[in-house]
Amino acid sequence: MDSSEKKRNAAEASLKFIEPGTVLGIGTGSTVNALIEMLPDVRERIDKVVSSSKASTELLQQQGFEVSTLNEAGDLDLYIDGADEVTKRLHLIKGGGGALTREKVLAGAARRFVCIVDESKFVGILGSFPLPIEVLPMAQAFVVRKLIKLRAQPIWREGFVTDNGNHILDVHGLTISNPLEMEARLNQIPGILTVGIFAQRPADILLIADDTGVRELRA
Ligand code: 5RP
Repeated sequence: MDSSEKKRNAAEASLKFIEPGTVLGIGTGSTVNALIEMLPDVRERIDKVVSSSKASTELLQQQGFEVSTLNEAGDLDLYIDGADEVTKRLHLIKGGGGALTREKVLAGAARRFVCIVDESKFVGILGSFPLPIEVLPMAQAFVVRKLIKLRAQPIWREGFVTDNGNHILDVHGLTISNPLEMEARLNQIPGILTVGIFAQRPADILLIADDTGVRELRA
C-alpha cells in the first residue's frame, strides 16, 4: 500500500468523529485534501466549516461548502489535520505546508483535535523533520541569530510566503526531547509568530494508517 492510500485510510477513519451539528475545523496538506474529497458524504452532519489555509478553503468551496471564518463560527467542536511528525504522547511537528499559524489557532479553538497520518510520520523523538517557524519580516535576521545561538541551523524556505504574508524558517539540527519546554522557549523569541511544535495543545486522538489498517492512539 502506498503512502497516499494510507493517508486516504487515515482520513476516512476520521469521518466517524464528525457528529450531527459539528462545527468543524479543517487543516492543510495532502492527507487533509483526501479528507476534503470525502466530506460531501457527511455534509448533513456539518453545521459550519472553518479552514486553516487559502488552499483548503479553495478545495472546500470546490466541494460546495460555504467556509466560515473562526470569528463567525466561534469555538470548534472538532479540528482534523495532518502532521509532519507525531509521537506516542501526541506531540506534533506541523507546518510542512506552511499553514502552521492558522492551524495552531484552529487546534487551540477546538474541543477535540483529531490528527490523521500515515505511519511514516510516527517518531520516537521530534526533530528529524526540520522544524517550521513563521517569522515576522522585520525580525528575520534577529530570529536567525537567536536560533544559531541555540546551535540550530535555520534555513529560509525559498520563494514561500505564508497566507499571513510572512516567511518560514525550517530549523534543522534540533533534537526535541522535551517538546513542551522547546515550544515555550522558542515562543519567547520576539518576532517568532508561530513555532511548529504542537505540544502545549497536542492532538487528542491520533489516527495512524499502516498496511494493516488504522490504529487509534488517545492522550
Ligand atoms: C501543513 C501541515 C500538514 O499537516 C503537514 O505538512 C502534513 O502534510 P501531508 O498531509 O501533506 O503529509 O502541517 O502546514
